[in-house]
Amino acid sequence: MSAGAASTAQAPPAPLRSPGDLLIVADAVHAHYGQSHILHGVSLSIAPGEAVGLLGRNGMGKTTLIRTLLGLHRASGGTVRVADRDVTGERADRIARLGIGYVPEGRGIFPNLSVRENLVMASRPPAASTRPAWTLARVLETFPRLAERLHHGGGALSGGEQQMLAIGRALMLNPDIVVLDEATEGLAPLIVAEIWRIVGTIRASGIASLVVDRNYRTVLAHTDRCVVLQKGRVVLEGSSGALHGSETLAGYLGV
Ligand SMILES: Nc1ncnc2c1ncn2[C@@H]1O[C@H](COP(=O)(O)OP(=O)(O)OP(=O)(O)O)[C@@H](O)[C@H]1O
Ligand SMILES: [Mg+2]
Repeated sequence: MSAGAASTAQAPPAPLRSPGDLLIVADAVHAHYGQSHILHGVSLSIAPGEAVGLLGRNGMGKTTLIRTLLGLHRASGGTVRVADRDVTGERADRIARLGIGYVPEGRGIFPNLSVRENLVMASRPPAASTRPAWTLARVLETFPRLAERLHHGGGALSGGEQQMLAIGRALMLNPDIVVLDEATEGLAPLIVAEIWRIVGTIRASGIASLVVDRNYRTVLAHTDRCVVLQKGRVVLEGSSGALHGSETLAGYLGV
């Protein structure tokens, strides 16, 4: 190409990210429960530091997709890559160790262990990361309520405190991504606001996130991009800014 042509040509498009640059890449993933075919070829990718919302009405497959990405449910087709490794069919604990902090629906904390024990047992030193490490001290600074309850049993905490403990545990893993499935479900408005504040802190710290929550407006406000599932298929995706006020989105969510 001549220099003249180059100077009049438009700037070349930004190079597509190679899959190796991405944190999670799901390609045409299928999942079943027995004979029920739940996920029908879902593809989804998440880049380092990216905040992604997963939206869709009840029963559309959000939790199943998350569980399949994390190896907690077996994919019946397609592939999942985490940190540039094919983890399809790999054990969930091995996948988690690649840097995924999971806050499941229902929290999954250990009720018979103290707050401190719950946090310390999840601890993993940071991998080669430029981000400051999450330590017990930093988690307690982020969640002052947990500091006050440090020696209480996990089961003795209120619902909101248990949710904070579940998020604190996920951070103790020094993850590259935090996956939050309905983290604000059933909590009082003040606690809900506190949880979203933490989600904002996580995002600002450069950790990627995958967020499911019924309050889709708040999800849009806290993410870069959203993906909408309908009956186990991705029917819509776009930047969260562009999806604000989208009638198509409202139609899929039935709002
Ligand atoms: N353990 C299970 N066994 C059989 N079917 C299941 C099981 N878990 C979920 N399903 C079914 O799979 C479909 C997808 O469920 P999933 O929990 O993934 O949806 P969801 O989008 O997370 O819904 P919600 O918003 O209610 O959490 C639903 O039809 C549900 O009834
Ligand atoms: Mg769910």
